[in-house]
Amino acid sequence: MADEEDRNPAEPATGGEPVWEGQVYTSADGTRRVLRRRPPVLETRALGVEFDERYVLHDISLKVSKGETVAIIGESGCGKTVFLKTAIRLIEPTEGTVLFNGIDLGQLNSRQLSEVRTRIGFVFQQAALFDSMSIGENIMFPILQTNPRTPQSELRDRVAELLYEVGMTPEVADRMPVELSGGMRKRVGFARALAAEPELMLYDEPTTGLDPIMSDVINELMIRARDNHKVTGIVVTHDMKSAKKVANRIVMFYPQSRLDEEQDQIVYDGPADEIDDSKDRRVTQFVEGLAGERLMEMTLARGA
Ligand SMILES: Nc1ncnc2c1ncn2[C@@H]1O[C@H](COP(=O)(O)OP(=O)(O)OP(=O)(O)O)[C@@H](O)[C@H]1O
Ligand SMILES: [Mg+2]
Repeated sequence: MADEEDRNPAEPATGGEPVWEGQVYTSADGTRRVLRRRPPVLETRALGVEFDERYVLHDISLKVSKGETVAIIGESGCGKTVFLKTAIRLIEPTEGTVLFNGIDLGQLNSRQLSEVRTRIGFVFQQAALFDSMSIGENIMFPILQTNPRTPQSELRDRVAELLYEVGMTPEVADRMPVELSGGMRKRVGFARALAAEPELMLYDEPTTGLDPIMSDVINELMIRARDNHKVTGIVVTHDMKSAKKVANRIVMFYPQSRLDEEQDQIVYDGPADEIDDSKDRRVTQFVEGLAGERLMEMTLARGA
């Protein structure tokens, strides 16, 4: 009897949806299976973040299951980067909890938290390489954090392999970050995030500022990370084309400042290919990139 362990949760089992842990059921291909539910890779419960007595995020409850790639969209300033940073506790939430594989990050001491962070790769909005280190040293950094005694030869091979994976030659390892173009830096940032073989990748605007070809290279890298390395992903993006291409699910945040207290900050949470059918104006306006209505609102707000 096969376990459910590696079933992509985005593909529900057919033949009577199993519900509880340990339930025996018949899958679509006729085999008998037993359901093993694992906790979501990342879960936030009623997460709230306040700056200067103003909520940026409020009551955000999200579950991201193994194998999923979720795109988070929403206008500038609505709290997307804050969400990613809070998910790995670079920002302490004001309220609520963050669980990684069922572990409450708020209960961990700093050593345990660093250990958990080695299992999460973060591609920052700005490539955020260490400028004083060579490209090779940048990529090695997370490997050495996990395994400080990794032999030099192994490190060199691994760096070359990771550079290859992002479409770069091994010679790049000896160059310094300032010598690289924006697109190259993003790819190095990607290689570094993949280096420790994370279970979860967090991407913050990975395609912003890149030309269409380079954007698509990055999209392909995210798809490869998902398919070849079975990495779960959360990608924050303004780029709807990228969101639809790499994500199976889209979550849209709305700025707290424009919501009434009882309104939900998550205005869309559903399949990527159904977002175009949303009836919510806030969603369609964003998806279709209609600035007109929003500009009008801003003008009215200023009393013009
Ligand atoms: N450390 C901080 N201290 C105070 N305010 C902050 C801090 N970090 C973020 N903010 C505020 O929180 C809000 C959300 O910021 P965030 O960077 O998450 O936006 P975003 O959705 O990622 O926007 P963009 O699409 O422009 O990157 C902004 O108003 C920002 O000024
Ligand atoms: Mg941001």
